[in-house]
Amino acid sequence: MRTCIHRTLGLLASLWLAAATATAQTSPPASKAPRDFSSPDFGQREFQRSCASCHGTSAKGDGPLVPYLRQSPPDLTRLLRNNQGVFPFQRLYDVIEGGALPAHGSRDMPVWGTQYRVEDAEYHTDSTLPYDPEALVRSRILGLLEYLNRIQLR
Ligand code: HEC
Repeated sequence: MRTCIHRTLGLLASLWLAAATATAQTSPPASKAPRDFSSPDFGQREFQRSCASCHGTSAKGDGPLVPYLRQSPPDLTRLLRNNQGVFPFQRLYDVIEGGALPAHGSRDMPVWGTQYRVEDAEYHTDSTLPYDPEALVRSRILGLLEYLNRIQLR
C-alpha cells in the first residue's frame, strides 16, 4: 500500500513537473535548455519548478499535491519566526539535501540531493566538459536557501 501511494505520488509529481516545464519553456527541450545559475532569481525559479507542487507558489504549504501527502508540507515563510528569529541554515540544507531523515516514519519530501545529482548527470551526458556534481548540487540548494531566506516573515 505504501509503495502504491509512493508510486502515485511520484507519478503525480512528475506529471505536474512535466506540465509546469512544458508551459514555462517552449524551446529548446527542458532538459537541454541553457541554465543560468548566476541569475539573482535562480532560487525563486528553482522553487517554483521543484517545490511549489507541494509547498505552494507562495511557500505557505498549499500546493496542489497536498491532498495526496500523508503529512502537510510546512509553511516555509515561517522558518525564521519558528526559530527565534534565526534562519536555521544548516538544518534546512540537510533537510533539502536529504541527509536529515526523520527519527521515525518515512518522509514525503523528495531527497533533492539525489534528484539533482541524477538531473545534472543526465544534463551532462553528451558533454565532453568536466563538471563537479557536488558543486552543482550545492549551488542549487544554496540558491533555494537564499530565496527562502528572502521570503521569511520578519
Ligand atoms: C512531494 C511534496 C514535496 C515537494 C515536491 C517538496 N517538499 Fe518540502 N516538504 C514536504 C513535506 C510533506 C514536508 C514535511 C516533512 C516530511 O514529510 O518530510 C516538507 C518539509 C520541508 C522542509 C522542512 C521545514 C522544517 O522546518 O523542517 C523544507 C526546508 C522543505 N520541505 C523545502 C523544500 C524545498 C526547497 C523543495 C524543493 C526543492 C521541497 N521542499 C519540495 C513535501 C514536499
